[in-house]
Amino acid sequence: VLSIDLTSAPTGVHLQRVPVQFDYPVIFQRDCLAPSSTALRWAMSRDRGSATARVLVIADAGLVQATPGFARALEGYFAAHCDALSSAGELVVIPGGEQAKADEGLVSRLHQEMLHRQLDRHSVVLIFGGGAVLDAAGYAAATFHRGVRVVRVPTTVLGQNDAGVGVKNGVNAFGVKNLVGTFQAPYAVICDSQFLGTLEARDVTAGLAEAVKVSLIRDPEFFRWLQQNAARLVAREEEALGESVRRAALLHLGHIAQGGDPFETGSARPLDFGHWSAHKLEVLSHHSLRHGEAVAIGMAIDVRYAESVGLLSAPVADEICSLLAQLGFTLPHAALGDPEVLLRGLEEFREHIGGELTITQLRGIGQAMDVHEIDRGAMRGAIWRVALHGAR
Ligand SMILES: NC(=O)c1ccc[n+]([C@@H]2O[C@H](COP(=O)([O-])OP(=O)(O)OC[C@H]3O[C@@H](n4cnc5c(N)ncnc54)[C@H](O)[C@@H]3O)[C@@H](O)[C@H]2O)c1
Ligand SMILES: [Zn+2]
Repeated sequence: VLSIDLTSAPTGVHLQRVPVQFDYPVIFQRDCLAPSSTALRWAMSRDRGSATARVLVIADAGLVQATPGFARALEGYFAAHCDALSSAGELVVIPGGEQAKADEGLVSRLHQEMLHRQLDRHSVVLIFGGGAVLDAAGYAAATFHRGVRVVRVPTTVLGQNDAGVGVKNGVNAFGVKNLVGTFQAPYAVICDSQFLGTLEARDVTAGLAEAVKVSLIRDPEFFRWLQQNAARLVAREEEALGESVRRAALLHLGHIAQGGDPFETGSARPLDFGHWSAHKLEVLSHHSLRHGEAVAIGMAIDVRYAESVGLLSAPVADEICSLLAQLGFTLPHAALGDPEVLLRGLEEFREHIGGELTITQLRGIGQAMDVHEIDRGAMRGAIWRVALHGAR
């Protein structure tokens, strides 16, 4: 089937077709740095035959600080697998969190490092870190030599259930979040639940926002599971966290593969449910709100909006907001203080995506729909309700 309608085409058109398919493994496995684990080895060297894969490792400073012996474990792993992997030199540690994406010189410094370490198009950049480090280092790797293989090891809940498994990277520029970036499929992803043990409690909670989000737009059964397991998740039981990560990651992956728009050329963005205000809230809070915390507030606003315009019943809206509260989110935040400023986020979201305003709303749990018009009065009311009453 031709994707271009040639009936109105001018003369002299040659239709160029470049068939492209991306396959990448996402491995859910514990303790990937144990010398006996073959996950990293296979992920990085699977098509190298007898040649070794040359690997530059970049890691999140937050992870390295929280994990005594991280560099040693990495060295041990490379030593145990030296027949398949060769290190391109010392580990590169970069600051974690949103500062990784806000530091405009970082990508260039990483390019310099890659040049200095003589990476070529067969080399691998192996990145350990939260979503922000994966985004920034992933963007540097995607643009070095027009793209080298990237193996991601997300080390936060949000990294493992969302940011690290998809096909996007990017950094902030001129004060705009994710302004510059690329679509690039990773070479492989390894989600290792053991890394989640050292996270701050707020980072565990923040990551769960994306699990709630993807359950709301795609999977009511997963929403019920999150309700039933909320206490285990808050207690950070590794098995429950691992299960929530796996289910949410597979839902994100399913959407990217089957949603019909992996490179986001259209205007509908169901995976961005709750995000039009979240992106604005992150900026308004000067990034004191984590991405996931802002998404939880953004979802509460859209849920209360859906309730006020008759898309969702009050009991269902209450159920969603109570789950967010149970998982530990504080929904009222100072950044909600001026609804008019927040409402500008709607226009900025449209500008970022282009085309017609398209906002994902819910008409039930697991039932997403696109709306093209927002009743600003009702949205103002929803913002006030969340600002004043949180989950109630
Ligand atoms: N590319 C995408 O498709 C995509 C999707 C969703 C979100 N994102 C981006 O992801 C970012 C948020 O990612 P995040 O929630 O992972 O937060 P984050 O990357 O900001 O990390 C949070 C904190 O955890 C620390 N950290 C990381 N791993 C650790 C570990 N194992 N132990 C202790 N501390 C650790 C970091 O140093 C940081 O201080 C945002 O910038 C968001 O825009 C990208
Ligand atoms: Zn998000």
